[in-house]
Amino acid sequence: MAQRGRGRPPAHHGSHPADRRPGRRPAPRTATPLELTFLPGLGEIVADEASDVLLLDGPPTPVPGREDALDVAHWGPLSAVLDLRTAVAAFVVLRFDVPRPKSLTSGDHLQRIVDAMYSSLRVGSSSSFRFEAAGSDSAVFTRLAELLAEATGLRYDEAQGQLVLRVRRGVRPGPSGDPGWDVLVRIGSRPLSARTWRVVDFPGAANATIAAAMVRLAGLADSDRVLNLMCGSGTLLVERLTAGPAAEAVGADLSGDALTHASENLGAAAADARLVTADCTGPELVEAVGTGWDLLLADPPWGTLHGTHATNAEVHAGMLRAAHDAAAPGARFVVLTHEIKVMERCLRDADALWRVRSETRVFAKGHHPRIYVLDRT
Ligand SMILES: C[S@@+](CC[C@H](N)C(=O)[O-])C[C@H]1O[C@@H](n2cnc3c(N)ncnc32)[C@H](O)[C@@H]1O
Repeated sequence: MAQRGRGRPPAHHGSHPADRRPGRRPAPRTATPLELTFLPGLGEIVADEASDVLLLDGPPTPVPGREDALDVAHWGPLSAVLDLRTAVAAFVVLRFDVPRPKSLTSGDHLQRIVDAMYSSLRVGSSSSFRFEAAGSDSAVFTRLAELLAEATGLRYDEAQGQLVLRVRRGVRPGPSGDPGWDVLVRIGSRPLSARTWRVVDFPGAANATIAAAMVRLAGLADSDRVLNLMCGSGTLLVERLTAGPAAEAVGADLSGDALTHASENLGAAAADARLVTADCTGPELVEAVGTGWDLLLADPPWGTLHGTHATNAEVHAGMLRAAHDAAAPGARFVVLTHEIKVMERCLRDADALWRVRSETRVFAKGHHPRIYVLDRT
């Protein structure tokens, strides 16, 4: 993965512009090792975003043995990780050259964990903490929880704790040659993927980190007129509009309930878009929204949640035609679909309308959707 970040700052990195802003905490003197977790398949997009958003000391590297985590070292304030949209969560990584977790309860080691917890608390307040660790109900973890509760004032809540500490066997050899143990302290009280704008639950709503990845794959232009077909509760629309301005934005769906949910989510995100009721598989779409759209986004129904496998073939084929009619010359259409066979067949039939620029496979909780970036031919 190529590093596209701003790279290691010069020797006087303490004078980074971020440090001079009033009210900002000074940047740390050493880069902070972080682990970014994400949905498998999105690694390159997350690495790309991390390089844009963070002050990286070297390129992101995959965590050994994992397909859902990247190691990065970041020079700037930890609060910068809150700007990551494609990652599920970010953790401060503490590596301990110790043979067993019991050693973590000793003075210096414990203090490093407490310091990292305070760093997390400065970014997002929490009143409780929990462990994610094999054997977290053992006597050793009970003692560690007591000591951390005492030092931080946070309540230990093994099921619902907000501040998450992952304790695991190390993934790289330490100074002694043994991998030791890692403690990962999550930044913030909620995962990054939990969006504050999502005020209503809509069955079948797109995962926000996938939606953010779609937006990055599409490319951002302030001059874009953005059309979200079959917008449901508006995830794709909100992620596009929170990533940057657009000349105009419209969401279309057949379902009045879906549009009500979209309206609430857009409101919570302070994102401005027009919502229209329209069938997005036929000429009614152009009648409702007109033509000349530069960026089109969609995640059509899948399984039997908002359709059936039989009708989903018609929906995909109709969507590709209707989107083409509404699109400006040179438009991009980014589609997230679980109906891979259906989509592949429909794309072959629609090759006079859309050319496939890229396909990205994602693995999300047992589902394997794909993101297609299409260019209008
Ligand atoms: C998978 S959901 C979209 C979820 C949405 N991205 C979200 O995050 O909430 C598919 C949506 O397609 C809509 N839909 C199904 N057939 C449609 C059609 N022919 N025209 C317009 N919308 C349609 C459904 O009402 C549903 O809201």
